[in-house]
This record gives sequence, structure tokens and C-alpha cells, in this order.
Amino acid sequence: MSYFERHIFFCLNERESGENSCAQHGAQQGFDHCKARVRDLGLGGPGAVRVNKAGCLDRCAGGPVAVVYPEAVWYSYVDNADIDEIVDKHLKHGQVVERLVLPNNVGR
Ligand code: FES
Repeated sequence: MSYFERHIFFCLNERESGENSCAQHGAQQGFDHCKARVRDLGLGGPGAVRVNKAGCLDRCAGGPVAVVYPEAVWYSYVDNADIDEIVDKHLKHGQVVERLVLPNNVGR
């Protein structure tokens, strides 16, 4: 059994060059909102959910992006309602939020 049941990583990368990056598209707000919602719902901790920052995940064209393990499901989100759905359905119940899944052909 793994230490965390589910782990979500948010790309928070910001490129100083001004090139496209998740930080320019609300990644920090999405991360902060996810952390707060997981905490408020009591979902965090060993045996449960962990929310982590990440650098560039190399799928910038779909940004802002996040990935949930162990299912390895990639998401592209827009607002707090999207984050709420990922938390409530996937992180809590293991149900993939199909409408937010990042297509496999989206890369850097
Ligand atoms: S900048 Fe976010 S995936 Fe590359």
C-alpha cells in the first residue's frame, strides 16, 4: 500500500522569459484552492491525499495542468469549480473527471 492514497501535482512553473507557462494561467490560484479544499474536507494526510507543487511537467500547451497518481490522469483546469470537481470526484472517490482530462497529444 502506498503512503498516500492519491497524490496530485500542480505545475507552478513560471518562465522569466515571458514564454507561455502554467503560472501565467492561474496555476498558483488553482494549487492554493486545491490545498484549502483538501484541508477543509479533511482529505489530507498519510493514507489519504497529498497536494504538491511541481515544476514544468512538460505539457505546457495544455496549461495550467495537474496530474493525479496512482492513476496518472492529467487534467487541464480553468477555475476553482474545476478544482472542486477534481477534489470531490477524483481525489475523494477515484472517479476521473472526463471533461477536464488533458488529451494525450498535448505536449510542450
Ligand atoms: S509550464 Fe506547466 S507544464 Fe510546462
